[in-house]
Amino acid sequence: MMLKGKKTILRYPKLSEAKILAKEVNKIEISSNIAVHRKKNTVKSEKKWIRTALKQNRKKQTVSFVVLDKTTKQIIGGCGFNTLRLKDKYAIAGWWLKKEYWGQGYFQDFATVLLDYGFKKLKLNKIDGHVFDYNLRSRKSIIKLGFKPEGVVRQNFIKNGVPVNEYLFGLLRKEWIR
Ligand SMILES: CC(C)(COP(=O)(O)OP(=O)(O)OC[C@H]1O[C@@H](n2cnc3c(N)ncnc32)[C@H](O)[C@@H]1OP(=O)(O)O)[C@@H](O)C(=O)NCCC(=O)NCCS
Repeated sequence: MMLKGKKTILRYPKLSEAKILAKEVNKIEISSNIAVHRKKNTVKSEKKWIRTALKQNRKKQTVSFVVLDKTTKQIIGGCGFNTLRLKDKYAIAGWWLKKEYWGQGYFQDFATVLLDYGFKKLKLNKIDGHVFDYNLRSRKSIIKLGFKPEGVVRQNFIKNGVPVNEYLFGLLRKEWIR
């Protein structure tokens, strides 16, 4: 499974990539902004995550991709659908990108590929995004993709011991496919 954008490539992670993925996701600018990061990743915990992700990908319970720079073929991020309910044609998207690549169009490129995959290949009707309130950059970038704000869920998450509000964003099939 490999999907190509103009600047990026999306494919399933490999066990051999556990070390680099753990290192990148542990960086504070990533770990503080993503819900799935609860404690410091080790190579062992990352391998476990990859094994689970590949199994769940196979069963169509999730979609988990690594994002590669199309030119260098290096890992620059990750993205996917952590929640995937095909019966409801519904998914919740998540993503991260190495800081050196922020603000250069890589995000819009791979997110477009992921959303196309969700709406066109998986035939989803709706894709949501949940963003911590302090993550202004992510809130702005998801709006740029076309998501609509749908409200704030108060103290929906405990991050590093502190309750955080989550902003909900949603994108309907009819808004994406025109
Ligand atoms: C979220 C993420 C993938 C977005 O990638 P990106 O390359 O930064 O996104 P974009 O460049 O498309 O958009 C960022 C926008 O936020 C703006 N921005 C940057 N810092 C900002 C700030 N402190 N406050 C408000 N807006 C800000 C940028 O100016 C840009 O908008 P513009 O293009 O209109 O100028 C990336 O920042 C990331 O990996 N963050 C850490 C992990 C994360 O937050 N994941 C998502 C969890 S919901």
